[in-house]
Order: sequence, then C-alpha cells, then structure tokens
Amino acid sequence: MKRILTALVLTCTVSLQSFAQDIFLENAKFRVGDDASWSGVSVDESSWRNITNTTTWTSQGVKCENGFGWYRYHVNIPKSLLEKSDLKETVDFKMGKIDDADEVYLNGKLIGKTGRFPSDANGYLGQWNTPRLYSVKVNSGLIKWDADNVIAVRVYNAGDPGGMFSGPVCVRVPNTIDNLSIVIKEKNLTPNPSTVGEGTAVCTLNSKMDATKSGVFTVKVQDPESGKVLTEKTQKVSVNAKKSRAINLPYDNHQMVRIIATFTESKTGLSTTTQYIPKYILTPAAPAEPRFNTTPLYGVRPGSPIHFRFGVSGEKPMKFSSDDLPNGLAINPDNGALSGKLDRPGSYTFTVKAKNAKGEQTQKFTIRCGSKIALTPPMGWNSWNCWGLSVTQDKVISSSKALIEKGLADYGYCYMNIDDGWEAPKRNADGTIAVNEKFPSMKELGDWLHSEGLKFGIYSSPGDLTCGGYLGSIDHELQDAESYNSWGIDYLKYDWCGYGRKHRTEPDNQTVASYVRPYLLMERCLRQQPRDIFYSLCQYGMAEVWKWGHAVDANSWRTTGDITDTWESLYDIGFGQQPDLYPYAQPGHWNDPDMLIVGKVGWSNNLRDSRLTPDEQYTHISLWTLLASNMLIGCDIAQMDDFTVSLLCNHEVNAVNQDILGKQAQRVVLDGSIQIWSRPLSDGSYAVGIFNVGPSDARVDFKKYFKEMGISSLQSVRDLWRQQNLSTTDVNYFIPTHGVKYLKVRF
Ligand code: GLA
Repeated sequence: MKRILTALVLTCTVSLQSFAQDIFLENAKFRVGDDASWSGVSVDESSWRNITNTTTWTSQGVKCENGFGWYRYHVNIPKSLLEKSDLKETVDFKMGKIDDADEVYLNGKLIGKTGRFPSDANGYLGQWNTPRLYSVKVNSGLIKWDADNVIAVRVYNAGDPGGMFSGPVCVRVPNTIDNLSIVIKEKNLTPNPSTVGEGTAVCTLNSKMDATKSGVFTVKVQDPESGKVLTEKTQKVSVNAKKSRAINLPYDNHQMVRIIATFTESKTGLSTTTQYIPKYILTPAAPAEPRFNTTPLYGVRPGSPIHFRFGVSGEKPMKFSSDDLPNGLAINPDNGALSGKLDRPGSYTFTVKAKNAKGEQTQKFTIRCGSKIALTPPMGWNSWNCWGLSVTQDKVISSSKALIEKGLADYGYCYMNIDDGWEAPKRNADGTIAVNEKFPSMKELGDWLHSEGLKFGIYSSPGDLTCGGYLGSIDHELQDAESYNSWGIDYLKYDWCGYGRKHRTEPDNQTVASYVRPYLLMERCLRQQPRDIFYSLCQYGMAEVWKWGHAVDANSWRTTGDITDTWESLYDIGFGQQPDLYPYAQPGHWNDPDMLIVGKVGWSNNLRDSRLTPDEQYTHISLWTLLASNMLIGCDIAQMDDFTVSLLCNHEVNAVNQDILGKQAQRVVLDGSIQIWSRPLSDGSYAVGIFNVGPSDARVDFKKYFKEMGISSLQSVRDLWRQQNLSTTDVNYFIPTHGVKYLKVRF
C-alpha cells in the first residue's frame, strides 16, 4: 500500500478543476479463472469475492500465478457529467496499472486491451507498468446514462504479484486538459560516473485530440530538499494527435532531484503536471591508481582448492604479484586470480601488489586455513531474478564476462550461481544427474570461471522435484555431491520445494528434526568432497532455520519467501522480517533475506528495469549490507547500467557487508516512518542506516535518537554513499520517501 501511495505521488497527473466531474471506483467483485461470459451485463456475482484495486490481488490473498482473474465494477454514469466538460466528446475509463495484461469490457463490449495473453498471436507480453486509459465516444450508444454500467476487466498475470494495483479506476468526461499528457523519461545516464551534469530528462507533451491545442509548457529540475528550482525551461507549444512536443532538460545526475513538467492550456487555463524521480549516482568514481576493495581475509579448509580473485579497481591493464606467497599458492599476474591449496591448518599472511600505469598499491592478506569458510558473506550473482527457468550456459558466461568487464569483480563479486533450470528430465543410467541441452559442459564452465578467479554455484532440492519442476537430489545426494565436485562447484543452493510432499507424510513432521534431516544428509555428502562448497539453505525460514542452520554447517539460510522487485516485497522482507534475526549471524553462517532486485530483472526471458525507485534501491543495498546478507546480484550484468554498477560498487558500503566482525545490524530506533539500523564494525565504529519508510520526504534530526542509541557525542560521521566526512554537530538530514542516510559513525 505504501508503495502504491508513492507511485501515485510520483506519476499523478493533476488537473485540478477536472476533479469535480470524476467518479472513482476502488472496490470490485473478483473471481479467479477465465470465462468469456463474465464480460456481460448479467452475471451472477453472488459467489464473487470483494477486492480493491489499491494493491495487488496477491497481497489480498489471491493465489493466481500465471493465470486469469476478472474484476467487475458497477457504476452509475450521470448525464450531468457532460455539462461540466468543455469537450463533451468521450467518456474515459482510467484503469490504472494492471499486472500484467488486460482486456476491458463496458456493458459487454470490448473497449480496450493492453499487453498480450499467452494464447495471442506473438505470445505473451506483460505491461504491468503502463497506466491504462480507454475511451468511449459519448454518442457511441455504449454508455447507459443515469443507470448501472458494468466494467468487466479480464486480467492475465505472469508470476507474482498480479492484478490491478495502482488505485482507483476513474471514470470521467474529459476536458481538453485531460486529453493532454506528459511523459518524462531519462536518457544518457552518464557513462562515466566522474562526469557531472550529463543526465537528461526528456519531457514530452502528447495529445489525443486532432484539433491543435496551445499553451505554456514548463519543465523544471527541483532540489526536493531545499525546494530550489535548479533549472527551468518554458516554451509556448502547440500539439495535436499527430504532433507531440518534447523539451530536453539537463541535470546533474549525481544529485537527488525531481523533474516536474507542467502544461497550461491557453483557452481553458487548466494545467496538467507530471513528476519524475531520475536515477542519481552518489558513489564517487574510483581512482585510476590500483585500490584494493575486498576484505583481506579468506577462509579455506586444508586440502581444498582455492579460487579467489583480488578485487582491485583502477586502470587496466594491471599486474599482480607477491613476494611471500605461502607454498602451494600461485597468483595469475594478469587478473589477480589466486589458486592452489594449503595442506596444513594455520593462518597464512602475505602481501599482494597491484600495479598499473598510474601507480601501485599493496595489501596484506590472510588466509585462515581451518574448519570455517565464508568468513564474510558471499558476493556474486545468481540467475534466478533475471532469467528464471530460461537460464542457459551462454547467459551465465555473458554475465560472468560483464562482471569482469564492468569492474564488479574488482569489488569482490565472485560467485556465479546457476539457479533452477539446468537439470535434464531424466538421470543417466548409472543414476548420476544429467544436464539439459542448455548447458553443454558444466566442467568447462567451471574451469573457465576458476581461471578467472571466480567461483561456480549450482542449485538443487532435497525433494524429487525443484520448485521449477526439474529433478531434485532425493535418493541421489552423494552421487550429486560427487558430480558437483567433478564440475568444480563452489556453492550449492539447496531448495526445499518438492521435499514438502515427502515431509507431509512423515510421522514426525511437527518436529524441528524433520526439517533438519534432509539438510544434514546433504551436508554429510558435501563434506565428503575434497573441496569447499558454500552450503546455502533455501527453505524460506521454516522451523526457525536461523536457530539450527549452523548445526548442519550451513553457510547461509534463506529467512523468508521469495523477494520480488517491489517496495512492498522489499519492505516486508527487509524491514518486516529481519529485526529479530541479528543474534544468529556470525562468520561462516549468515541470514539470507534473498537476492538483490536492482538492475534488469524479470524471472523469465522478458527483462525489465527494477520497479524500485532510485531511493528504494539505495535503501535496498544499504539494508542488505547492514544485515550482513548474501550479496547476490539478481540482474543480467551484461545489461547493467552505470547507476546499478555504482550501487553495487561502492567499496565503503560493501565494506560494511564484508566486515570481519560479522555482526548483523539491529533495529535500534523505530519511530513512525523512521527506522535506524546499526551494526558494530571491527574498527570500533558503527554503520548506521537512517531509513524513511514513509510515503513522504522527511527531515530527521539524528540527535533526537542519541539517548536511545547510547551516543553522548559523535567523534566522526561519514556519509558512506558519498564517501565524505560530515559535521559531527549538525546532524539534521533530509531523507526522501523510501530513502536512506547511510553513515559510518564513531562515538
Ligand atoms: C524457489 C526459491 C527461489 C528460486 C526458485 C527456483 O522459489 O525460493 O529463490 O530458487 O525456487 O525454482
């Protein structure tokens, strides 16, 4: 609901004097399924449930993934509406946003369609983010004046969430101004984050009318904090259905701004306004000289092969070397990949040098060879949030190459994990697991990743089938672990799913032991392999997995159901479900609130930009680093823009996630919309995230919470995103809706 409010604030078109003639419909009758007769006027709705369109059907308890549902609205349309319009040409039905494709019927006749259903020519096309506007001519005979009209909406949803979700349906007889709309898009997000002032907003005025309309088009860039207008352009413009008008507006894309465009029509004096929040880059560009960005500590078990890459930013080419490498280890001088193995337990410290044309830097590095791996949370990529079941070997390779080319590997991202969708329908005759045609050679893929110093991850289930309906490991656990070893697997995500069917039949299924059993079994099989395999439990937090995950030697455990790229999901999983879990995280064993939802995601072949606003994305990364969460990128890295790279490659922000103390943040303040989360760091300082989860921008005086947080005075304050020191006395911060002020403080 909160997300929806913001969505309205950001995108609403305000035509003040038109409001009097609008009819708003929030509640409908609803039914899952699909039946052509439900478009008609006389339908028995007695068994239909009530639903609202202010939030998705999923959040109202409707289960309908990959399926149809129908909404039916009843509305009396008074003839008096006509008198209030200067046009009197059409009746408009503004249906809002619909997840994902729809057809709308008025009194049994189709009046509009957006997106495509799976059975349509050219197949399914989702348009969840497009506001629907369907018009009917006043004299079409379709409208029943001063009587009941039925609006029937057929909705197809691909994956959750689904349905109508952006607020009331609006029925209106439009004025001229209502037929004019403004679309704002951002273009050219600076290719090089060091260049300031390169953002451009393209504000386009469109008209639905044939007759030319004139007026004044004003676009401005505003600082939401001071309210100051930073840039403004005003033009007299004329538009009609064939001719739209655009104004390009430059802005500094390193600053949080709002783009506001207004058109005032000359004849009626009525205006329409649209607001847009563009992406903005806070992370400063890395210096050209080498800079080490990864935690200088790495855990390995004796005898296990080491695959590690020193994360160093700076101009390429770069050369890596070390004069005191422990026996048995080697560094690839060209990419900084460390390989080899250590046979005896102990702590091995050595110095690594990185050198390029601009300079050189050294860093002391320690390998702790013992019983523990994952001394800091894993960083890398997983195929699920982007490709879903359409993952292929080529897609893994393309994201891996981009991880290196775009510099993410220089910041410690190293695990490249295939999620569900790689298994063949049948095992080999000897019972070993077989890959499907999308993965020509797991061994070659693993070898190549390792040659780059990257790591290789895979997915399976303790059940007969995975969540995607592929083969699981049941009754073949040891064989599968052996296959993983032979392919060079470094990470296993082990997903409950199909095991649920077996579990339901077990006599002790009320006990924690029954939840532990399948995970313990696989742990024993993994530990028989002569390599370190990060063990990632995925069972959505059942039986309070955080209390026993370490006992099955899990390196992380999912604490919740699946995340999706909406504020509701981020809020629920991040702020709603994590506050009590901090005692359970420690080096080697981490809570996992699920993978990242920035960049281009889609859970299918159809990728889209994350639905999170820029500020929600800052909140997401800040909170996940505070939570000492797994940092698994969920988007296609090959298509990653500079904004997303800047979110993921801020070495000071990532250092919080990778801090070797391994303490997960606690929520220390809960004050209405303001939440403060804080975690102690190994250097004696604290990482502090001040979050505004409310629907409007806020000013927060940090001092107000000092007592609650045990702070008497501040010795230092650093803005982690901007990598700048701030005043220790003036600690009053502007925090945009759903945004964050992320600090490192000493007190
Ligand atoms: C479950 C998991 C997801 C993903 C899918 C794959 O839903 O929670 O993260 O692995 O299965 O089918």
